[in-house]
Amino acid sequence: MEYQAKTAYQQKQVVNQYDQRRFQNLKGKITNWMELRLIGRALKYVNILPPARILDIPCGTGRLSEYLLQKGYSVEGADISPEMVRYTNQRLKGYVSRNADIARVENAEELSFPDATFAAAVSLRLFGHTPPENRLRVINELKRVSQSYLILVYYDRNSLVGMTRQAGRRKRGISWHPVSAAEIDGELKRAELEIINVFHLLRGLSETKVVVARI
Ligand SMILES: C[S@@+](CC[C@H](N)C(=O)[O-])C[C@H]1O[C@@H](n2cnc3c(N)ncnc32)[C@H](O)[C@@H]1O
Repeated sequence: MEYQAKTAYQQKQVVNQYDQRRFQNLKGKITNWMELRLIGRALKYVNILPPARILDIPCGTGRLSEYLLQKGYSVEGADISPEMVRYTNQRLKGYVSRNADIARVENAEELSFPDATFAAAVSLRLFGHTPPENRLRVINELKRVSQSYLILVYYDRNSLVGMTRQAGRRKRGISWHPVSAAEIDGELKRAELEIINVFHLLRGLSETKVVVARI
C-alpha cells in the first residue's frame, strides 16, 4: 500500500526546509534534543554501545545519524528519498573518509542489506506515517538485518498531543497512523519480537514512544 510519506519528501525544497521548519524554534530544538537523547538512552539500556553498527532508517536529513556518530557509533543511514540521502551525505561528509557515504537509498519494506548486518536498527518518525500492513513489513525487514534489537518510535493515539493534533491533521489532509499500547503489543508479537522497555518523551502528554524490542 502507498502512503504519503513515501513520496512527500522527494523534493529538494521540502528537504532543504525540513530541519528549519521543525527544529528551528525553541520548542523544535527541545523536541529534537529530547528525541535524540531518548534514542541514545534506549541503546544504552540494552547495552548497545559505541562503536556498535547502527542502522538509522529513515535517516531523513541525518540528524539522528549525526548524533550517533558524535557518540562514536558506526552508523549507516537509509531513506527512500534520494534527496534526503543526498542531504545527509552532504551533512555528514566530515565523519567519513573521502568518497565514502553514510547514507543510501533504501525502501524500509525491502532492504538490500544482508541478514544480521547491524547490532541494532532504529526507526524515528516513520511509523506515524505508515499504515499497519506497511509497518509490519518494515518491522520484519529491520528484524532481519539486525542482530539483537530494534528501537522503534511509535505515536500514541491516547496521548494529549495525539488526541489534540488528530483533528488538525485530518483537516490538512495528512494521513497519520497513531496507535494504542495494545496495538503496539499485538504488532510486535505478530513479528515475534519481545518488548523490553518503552521510553516516553513526556508520559501521557507527548505522542512519541520509543519502544525497545528484542529479536
Ligand atoms: C518525517 S521524516 C523522518 C526523518 C528522520 N528520521 C527524522 O526523524 O528527522 C520521514 C522520512 O521517511 C522516509 N520514508 C518514507 N517511507 C519510507 C520507506 N518505506 N523506506 C525508507 N524511508 C522512507 C521519507 O523519505 C522521509 O525522509
